[in-house]
Amino acid sequence: MRAIKKVIITGGAGFIGSACIRNLLSREDVEVLNIDKLTYAGHLETTESFSKNPRYRFLQIDICDKNAIAKAVNEFSPDAILHLAAESHVDRSIDGPDQFIETNILGTYNLLKTALRYYQSLDAKRQSQFLFQHISTDEVFGSLGQDGYFTETTPYQPSSPYSASKACSDHLVRAWLTTFKLPTIVTNCSNNYGPYQFPEKLIPLIISKAVNQEPLPVYGKGDNVRDWLYVDDHAAALVEVLFRGVVGETYNIGGKNEKTNLEVVHLICDLLQELVPNKSSYRDLITFVEDRPGHDLRYAIDCQKIQNELGWQPKETFETGLKRTISWYLDNQNWVRAVTEQDYSGDRLGLKTA
Ligand code: NAD
Ligand code: DAU
Repeated sequence: MRAIKKVIITGGAGFIGSACIRNLLSREDVEVLNIDKLTYAGHLETTESFSKNPRYRFLQIDICDKNAIAKAVNEFSPDAILHLAAESHVDRSIDGPDQFIETNILGTYNLLKTALRYYQSLDAKRQSQFLFQHISTDEVFGSLGQDGYFTETTPYQPSSPYSASKACSDHLVRAWLTTFKLPTIVTNCSNNYGPYQFPEKLIPLIISKAVNQEPLPVYGKGDNVRDWLYVDDHAAALVEVLFRGVVGETYNIGGKNEKTNLEVVHLICDLLQELVPNKSSYRDLITFVEDRPGHDLRYAIDCQKIQNELGWQPKETFETGLKRTISWYLDNQNWVRAVTEQDYSGDRLGLKTA
């Protein structure tokens, strides 16, 4: 087990990064520095539950900013860097890929260069514990047909500007491991859901629109399949890898919860009916809309490696996790308003050409 006491998390004001911080701060001897630019997807409202913890610090920095990143890393002197900061929404990468190339590729490149210089400045004992952990996605593998699963050896075949930028950053991380001996691990995870997810993503979008009695947009026929994982289960997996993962390895993380998009939307409608009864079924609001360009048909993760080697298992089933998520959004409409009021109207994204 790595002796990690000080962790830098990038992207900790976002959905998964904030879940990782909650997990790490629940361990009494870990200090966290959150580095986040606070884009449209990053908000201090997301960090309120831990922002006053004495073992937590925050710096508003763009990961592309060489000087600010170098200063933050050198001054905090971390034992590990958990790199989540990214542009994360596929539809936005279709409308405008520039920021995806900047943050996901050049930002990761900048972090790797800084991390390597910092790592080389450490003594042998601290070097032996250091880890740069890069959080990636199953979308780098492209689309599956009806059968099969993504494993750690599946070749990369990304389809969208988002997944291509993530694939590029994964390759950069591997190159820094192989060429410069920076101790790195890459994890590739399936679709997350849960509290604090920006309401542009399918599950919170459908909840928000249903609550407001608006049409529920389902792309194409709704038959694309995603493998859903509750965000706290992902955070637990990432923290397990942080302490016990083997340098140089990659780990696939998934929920073993394959559902078509239409199944997901039906389930949300039916759970909402139990929680907030409506005269007519919420399903009546479903509207089939033009498909996403380059829409991957199916993602499904084989997560045997992390289960067998690190003993990680997801705790939530899709039904229990979805119920918790819907209840959270119903109870936290203020958070939804706060994070959407400036930059997001709920309109369709991803139909423009770059
Ligand atoms: P998110 O969009 O909710 O949060 C991203 C965070 O990164 C935000 O707080 C944002 O302000 C910050 N950020 C963006 N650009 C930045 C920059 N240039 N400098 C500093 N901070 C910046 O994303 P998420 O869903 O929490 O995803 C986190 C990571 O996990 C991403 O790398 C994503 O590719 C990966 N991932 C996400 C999922 C998913 O289902 N959401 C699944 C697998 C992997
Ligand atoms: O697989 C992991 C990836 O999951 C992460 O790397 C990404 O950061 C994350 O955004 C997510 O990507 P998806 O494109 O799968 O997520 P999204 O919520 O945008 O869409 C999920 C599915 O629902 C997808 O097949 C498109 C469909 N969809 C989405 C929206 C927003 C709809 O049918 N209607 C919608 O309004």
